[in-house]
Order: sequence, then C-alpha cells, then structure tokens
Amino acid sequence: MTKIFVTREIPDHGLKLLKAKKGVKLSIYKEDKAISRAELKKGVKGIDVLLPLLTDKIDAEIMDAAGPSLKMIANYAVGFDNIDLKAAAARGLVVTNAACPEISESVAEHALALIFALAHRIVETDAWTRKGNYKGWGPKMFLGTDIKGKTLGLIGGGAIGSALARRMKDGFEVKIIYTDIKRNEALEAFGAKFVKQDQLLREADFVSLHVPLLPTTHHLISTKELRLMKKTAFLINTARGPIVDELALIKALLKGTIAGAGLDVYEAEPLIDANPKDTYELRKLPNVVLTPHTASATIEARQAMSTTAAKNILAFLDGKTPPNAVK
Ligand code: GLV
Repeated sequence: MTKIFVTREIPDHGLKLLKAKKGVKLSIYKEDKAISRAELKKGVKGIDVLLPLLTDKIDAEIMDAAGPSLKMIANYAVGFDNIDLKAAAARGLVVTNAACPEISESVAEHALALIFALAHRIVETDAWTRKGNYKGWGPKMFLGTDIKGKTLGLIGGGAIGSALARRMKDGFEVKIIYTDIKRNEALEAFGAKFVKQDQLLREADFVSLHVPLLPTTHHLISTKELRLMKKTAFLINTARGPIVDELALIKALLKGTIAGAGLDVYEAEPLIDANPKDTYELRKLPNVVLTPHTASATIEARQAMSTTAAKNILAFLDGKTPPNAVK
C-alpha cells in the first residue's frame, strides 16, 4: 500500500487520478487552511509520498517525521523554495514541481493584468470613483500611460516570461528585452533581445520578474537596481516576494524613484510589508496594485497543476522518472 498525504484539499482532477490507482491510500488534511507544523508532522508519519503546498515548509525535520518510508515530495507549485532540496537529496527523495503550460499562461495573464491596472490606473480610479468623487470629466484627470510601443524587460526568460512576451508583443507592439542565466533561443527567435540586467533596468518601461527564488536571486532587486530604473517605469512581481528588497521598494515608491509596482507576492507573506509590524504602509500607496498571491488562481491552472502533481507521482510509482523532477 502506497500512502500519499495531501496537506490541503486541491482541485480534484489530479486527486481523481491518484484515487483510481490500485494500491494507493490517499489522505487529505481535512481543514481548508494551511496545515500547522504539528499537524503536518503528525500527517506525514509513515507516508510514501507527500503532496505539499507552497505554504508548507518541508525541511529535514518534516522529512524525518515522515521517516524512512518517504520517497517523494510532489509540490503543488511551480516554485520549490518551500522545500529543502539539500535535505531531500541527502535522504534520496525525489522532488517534483507542478510547472505546466496552463500555469504559465495564467501567471502571464496576471502579470499583464497588473501592467494594465498600473498603466491605466484602474485600481486607483476605481477606488476614487466608488467614493463618489467623480463630479465631472477633466482633460488632465488621472493621466496614465499607454502600453503600446513601450519596452518590456523580463528578468527570467522561461515559460512564464515568454508567455507574457508573446501577449505584449502581439497585442501591443511592445519591444521585448530579457536577461537570464541562459539564453532562450525561442524567445529570441520571437524578437526578444538578450541584454545584461543593468541595461534592462535602464531601458524597460515595465520590468517583470520571472525567476525562481534561490540564494542567487534573493534581493535581486534592491536600492541600486531600483535607482537604475526609469522614473516612469513599473516593477511587476508575480514570482516570489524575497526576490525584491521590499523595504527598498517602498522607499523608492515613496520617493518617486520609479512610477509604481504591481505585486502578487510579498517578502514576509502573508504579511504585506516586510516589516512584521506592518508599518511601511505599502497598502496605502496609490501607485501600487496588490493581489494575494493569486497569479495562478484560475480554474484551468489549478486543475492542471493538480493533474501535473498526480502524473508525477504516478510516473514515480511506475518506476519512471517523473517529468517535473527538480534538483
Ligand atoms: C505559485 O506561486 C507557484 O509557484 O506555483
């Protein structure tokens, strides 16, 4: 009997596949909230496969609480910064993520939505209009900026960055520049130009982050980088909060070093400001658009992630290399 533990109910497509597999005992944490550390330790005891969420920190302690039966961790997320990969490797565990075309499309759409909201000041003007402030049209009222013909700078030219590039170039004749640790020929064939990060920051009107959180990408965007950006430029983060030095960003936004930011992720998530006392007032700034880590929250993406996680588990149980193995 293969015991699989899921740390919270997820959309059902993948769960159905796992339930249909002979010899599998699937258990799902019963409450619809992030599982506590104590419950997680209890739930993993004696399992073979763990299916955690990005909100679960899976470190050596949890792996040891599971015990020697644990063989695989199938993360229900593209990012895997919640998993201690070294501790997993030391225990011979296979780790997979849930990257799939649907999540790339969903996150790219969300990044685009943040770009739109900022350029056309949608959230700010919605709040203002709802308050009953609209008393008459004005030629200089809430001037924003067009997207057409501008430059998109992608920090990370993988699947999500490429999906955003396609939309921006086809829809808005936007010039695409990107930087990454390796070049993406398909993206370049599509017209994107590879540049160094400093040049990208100097030239882009919209800087969008699409890199994983790693020691090398922690605070990749801080005071120096924000200063390189145009005063009229916007920063978009749908990747992971700690890639941006949030305090430096707040200072830059207050000083007008950049024009605004669209954020789906935060440094000390679920806190919105990096300061645990929540005193930096990111939420009060009119030139930011904030969403609660919902870039992949479409039914299509979340179902596909469920299927992807399950297919990885099933491949592993059949003795094959899971398609989404991460190292
Ligand atoms: C969401 O943030 C993910 O990594 O899937």
